[in-house]
Amino acid sequence: MKALVLAGGLGSRLRPFSHSMPKQLIPIANKPVLVHVLEDLRAMRVTEVGLVVGDRGQEISAALGDGSALGVRITYIQQDEPRGLAHCIGIARDFLGDEDFVMYLGDNMLTEGVQDIAEEFRTRRPTAQIVVHKVPDPRAFGVAEVDGNGRVVRLVEKPQEPRSDLAVIGVYFFTPAIHEAVAAIGPSARGELEITDAIQWLVSRGDDVQARIYSGFWKDTGRVEDVLDCNRELLDHLAPSVLGEVDGASELDGPVVIEEGARVVRSRIVGPVIIGAGTVIKDSYVGPHTAIGRDCVLSAAGLGYSIMLDGAAVERVGGLHGSVIGRDATVTSGALASRIRLVVGDHSSVEVAA
Ligand code: DAU
Repeated sequence: MKALVLAGGLGSRLRPFSHSMPKQLIPIANKPVLVHVLEDLRAMRVTEVGLVVGDRGQEISAALGDGSALGVRITYIQQDEPRGLAHCIGIARDFLGDEDFVMYLGDNMLTEGVQDIAEEFRTRRPTAQIVVHKVPDPRAFGVAEVDGNGRVVRLVEKPQEPRSDLAVIGVYFFTPAIHEAVAAIGPSARGELEITDAIQWLVSRGDDVQARIYSGFWKDTGRVEDVLDCNRELLDHLAPSVLGEVDGASELDGPVVIEEGARVVRSRIVGPVIIGAGTVIKDSYVGPHTAIGRDCVLSAAGLGYSIMLDGAAVERVGGLHGSVIGRDATVTSGALASRIRLVVGDHSSVEVAA
C-alpha cells in the first residue's frame, strides 16, 4: 500500500502562521504535524509516500527532504492551486499507479494512530474505507451516514443539517476504483473537486464503502486553539528526560524534557513541558502543557499552556497563557505584565506595556 499525503492548500484559518510557514509544519510537542503524520504511516507499514504540496512546497521539502530520516521515501507532487482533495488524487495518478493507497490529510493529527483500521482494509479490501469520529457538531466536516454493518450509505461535505454525528476524519483507504470516481465528478459549490463527492459516487454505484470509528484523540489542526489542544494531548504522554543543564537553584516538577544543550537557570518548570536544544530559560516560570522549540530565550518571564517556535524570545513578560510565539519573534515588556494571551507570527516583535 502506498500513501498520498496532502500538504497543499492555503491554511488561512491558522493566520498569522500560515503567512510565513505552511500550516502542516507547525510544531506540536516540538515536531511538525507532517512528521507526526509520516510516523503514523510508518506505524501502518507504509513507506512509499507521495506528498502533494502547493506554493510552500520548498519549505516542506527543506524540512522533510527525501524522508529517509523518518524511514519513508517521499515523492513530491506539485499542485498548482488548491483545487480540492479529489484533484490531488488526479494529479498523483502516475505515482499511485494501480496500487491501493491511504490518503492522509497533512493537517490532521490522530494521536493513537489507525494501524488496526489499516490492517482491516488490507485484509478485507472493500472498495474504500473511511475513518470517522463522533463529534458534537460535525457541520465543519464531511459527515457520514453508516448502517449497522459499518457500510456507508451517504456522505455529505459540511452539511448545514448533519444527519449523523460521524465526522469524516483525514485518513482514507482506497483501491484503484477511486480513480474512476475522481474522473466522473465535477467541482462543488466552493469550486473544489471534493473527496466526499468521489466517495459518494462509489456509494451510489453500489460499491462497498466501509467506515470505521476512530475513538482516540483527533484534531484538524486548522486553528490556533486546536494546535494548543493537540500540544496538550501529546505532552500528556511525555516521557521525561533531562539531557540539558539544570542549575541547583532551579526546580523541575512533573514530566519534563530538556534537550541537549538547553540550560535552565534559577527557574521553575512544571511539566508536562518540553524544552528544545540550545534554549536558555532563566529567572522564569514555565507552566504545564508548554512546548519550547530550539534556540529560544525565556528570561524573567512566565509562560504556560503555550508553544514557542524555534528562535523565539520572551523577556520580562509574566503570565503568558494560551500563546503561540512564532519563529524568531520577540516579546518584551518594560515592567512585568500578567495574564496575557498572544498569538505572534514569525519574525515579529511585540512590546507589552504594563
Ligand atoms: O479534517 C477533516 C476534513 O478535511 C473532512 O471532514 C472533510 O470531509 C474534508 O473535505 C477536509 O475538509 P477541510 O475543508 O478541512 O480540508 P482542507 O482544505 O483543510 O484540506 C485538508 C488538507 O489537504 C490540508 O493539509 C491541505 C490539503 N489540501 C487541500 C486542498 C483543498 C491540498 O493539498 N490541496 C487542496 O486542493
